[in-house]
Amino acid sequence: MKTPRAFFKPLAIGAPTPLREPPPRVERMVHFVPPHLEKVRAKVPEMARQADVILGNLEDAIPADAKDAAREGFIEMAKATDFAALGVGLWTRINCLNSPWHFDDVTRIVAEVGDRIDVMMIPKVEGPWDIHYMDQFLAILEARHGVKKPIMLHAILETAEGVANVEAIAGASPRMHGICLGPADLAASRAMKTTRVGGGHPGYRVIEDPHVDGSPRASVQQDLWHYTIARMVDACQMNGIKAFYGPFGAIDDPEACEQQFRNAFIMGCVGAWSLHPSQIAIAKKVFSPDPGEVAFARRILEAMPDGTGVAMLDGKMQDDATWKQAKVLVDCAKQIAARDADLAAAYGF
Ligand code: GLV
Ligand code: MG
Repeated sequence: MKTPRAFFKPLAIGAPTPLREPPPRVERMVHFVPPHLEKVRAKVPEMARQADVILGNLEDAIPADAKDAAREGFIEMAKATDFAALGVGLWTRINCLNSPWHFDDVTRIVAEVGDRIDVMMIPKVEGPWDIHYMDQFLAILEARHGVKKPIMLHAILETAEGVANVEAIAGASPRMHGICLGPADLAASRAMKTTRVGGGHPGYRVIEDPHVDGSPRASVQQDLWHYTIARMVDACQMNGIKAFYGPFGAIDDPEACEQQFRNAFIMGCVGAWSLHPSQIAIAKKVFSPDPGEVAFARRILEAMPDGTGVAMLDGKMQDDATWKQAKVLVDCAKQIAARDADLAAAYGF
């Protein structure tokens, strides 16, 4: 176990000092881009005007024979647009640690655009050892290439072992930015009997007891991801990092996508991936608190200015604990309002 002071020392001579807090950023959607496709790269500046984060994907969904082109395409894309000036995050998802592309992904990207990227997303993280390795490797490369701010790490929770170690992963390094759910790989790792990328399954449900008159019994689908999201949120919050839902593969079912995103938001997640431009708007809507709820939360804060005591609002008891919930909502809305003039008006800030 490292001592508290050592935790915040650079891991290589000349590497930037680790951050005490992740920079406060609105990250309602991490928009995935396949950077080997020139046609898609050409649309990136336009996408950057809509999304909070643009991610160049190098891992799954990129064919093996396009891995080098995707890496170089990402570097080109990172150089072509000044994402920081637009207030948009630039992330990449690199190939996993045991793959033949991993070493080149990390070394080329830090060498070429180490100062331009905010976050490296690491797939199939199994335990804190994967984060320790990335932490050290990045520090050496940051020092070599004179990178000024530490590149943060975001782990995908997508193996049974990763879920078992989620608290240790979340607390493994000050480089940790957050964790997101990878429901497709996780389903395979857990031997779930599904063929989907996130969402529910018509076979996973609860059913009413039989009726005496033999009438049809109501049944309803359950959320396959509730347990994992709850563990992930707790692990992230206890370590002061962010939790995200991941991909929702049914592009043709925006209603189900919205519901899955909303469950994650209400449970404590701050954002989700968008795999298609149509999901950017869904994530924007879901991960920005509802103006009516924000208005009620502001009334709670006003009713108890110092955050203590008790108040009744519309028949609902408020106390120190609801004050804290209200503060979470209002702080989230304020952060989003600073980025989005329409929402600032809707919230009345
Ligand atoms: C994402 O990578 C997933 O496996 O769901
Ligand atoms: Mg995956």
